Amino acid sequence: MTILVTGGAGFIGSNFVLDWLAHSEEAVVNLDKLTYAGNLESLASLQGDPRHIFVRGDIGDRSLVDRLLIEHHPRAVINFAAESHVDRSIHGPEDFIQTNIVGTFHLLEAVRGYYNALPATEKSSFRFLHVSTDEVYGSLTPEAPPFTEENPYEPNSPYSASKAASDHLVRAYHHTYGLPVLTTNCSNNYGPYHFPEKMIPLMIVNALAGKHLPVYGDGMQVRDWLYVKDHCSAIRRVLEDGRLGETYNVGGWNEKPNIEVVKTICKLLDQYRPRSDGKSYADQITYVSDRPGHDQRYAIDARKIERELNWKPSETFESGITKTVRWYLENTEWVRHVQSGTYRDWIKKQYS
Ligand code: NAD
Ligand code: DAU
Repeated sequence: MTILVTGGAGFIGSNFVLDWLAHSEEAVVNLDKLTYAGNLESLASLQGDPRHIFVRGDIGDRSLVDRLLIEHHPRAVINFAAESHVDRSIHGPEDFIQTNIVGTFHLLEAVRGYYNALPATEKSSFRFLHVSTDEVYGSLTPEAPPFTEENPYEPNSPYSASKAASDHLVRAYHHTYGLPVLTTNCSNNYGPYHFPEKMIPLMIVNALAGKHLPVYGDGMQVRDWLYVKDHCSAIRRVLEDGRLGETYNVGGWNEKPNIEVVKTICKLLDQYRPRSDGKSYADQITYVSDRPGHDQRYAIDARKIERELNWKPSETFESGITKTVRWYLENTEWVRHVQSGTYRDWIKKQYS
């Protein structure tokens, strides 16, 4: 048996592929466009493993996706592929519309054609799992209860609007065409192989490089952090036993203001890699201009997935952030190649 994963060279996708193959013998076809965010070095440990079939390509390339579905006959498609960085979506939303909305539409069309042609027995077990975000629900006030699956969609950035649109398409393909879909809406992930343009890895690598730690606005925006391996286990559970057409919120019950997260990272670095001048990395914190339209607070009510699928995160924020800081200290080559673009030179050579 085989699954098709899209975006499996990105942060969460690569963790998912590694995790999947650590738990199962079932092969993974990994379709990834290798944008700046896709990095095959994250999957270097799978080199030569016949269970991992990497294909460079776009989820919006209908003929390629048609061919992959026929050739590999997957029993499930898990869609991670997306443009995912809010700040980039503010500077240039077009790629977000193209991949997150148009790309998801083409992927759904290809999967619909494939699904319709499956024999009845295979139809009943086939799944399309769409990986989405808590940002589609908009922003919470400090006193509001966390987002449940019943919250209305109120996206505020081009990124979250494009993810909301993709979620709606997925829902419509279930209701209109009977496609067996599942959607997960997850809070902020952190952990190994996180591209250092997102807050947590950016703060770690900037701190070590002696650079400023740029905190947006007053640093009091709240995010609900989930260790990436816990997100992977939640996706596995939803794929296994999730009810068709349902959405499942996934979160870590770890609400933290950004400034607290940055100070925690500084403390861990002070402990594991003290600065040579004896000062704290916290001295490098700098408050910078706020993100336009910055959402104040996200928080996930993850009781539905716990109740229905018996899923709970296994890491606390303290254990997850410690593992993450240590991973970045131990994987300086990965960081160096991302920063220098070396991994992209390799892609050029390999795929020109
Ligand atoms: P990422 O940016 O690290 O990875 C995205 C991957 O998709 C990259 O490998 C990229 O090359 C690939 N990709 C982009 N456009 C593509 C296309 N048109 N066709 C094929 N591949 C393409 O993102 P991530 O943080 O790993 O997020 C993965 C998914 O999870 C996204 O859908 C995102 O919206 C969602 N999500 C992320 C978080 C988070 O905290 N990072 C939280 C909740 C949900
Ligand atoms: O909530 C889930 C979302 O989390 C995912 O859907 C997105 O794909 C993912 O990128 C992430 O979005 P955020 O915007 O929350 O993540 P980011 O790491 O960019 O920022 C986290 C918080 O830190 C946010 O409030 C902005 C702030 N920040 C970010 C950066 C990059 C800073 O203060 N300074 C920074 O330099």
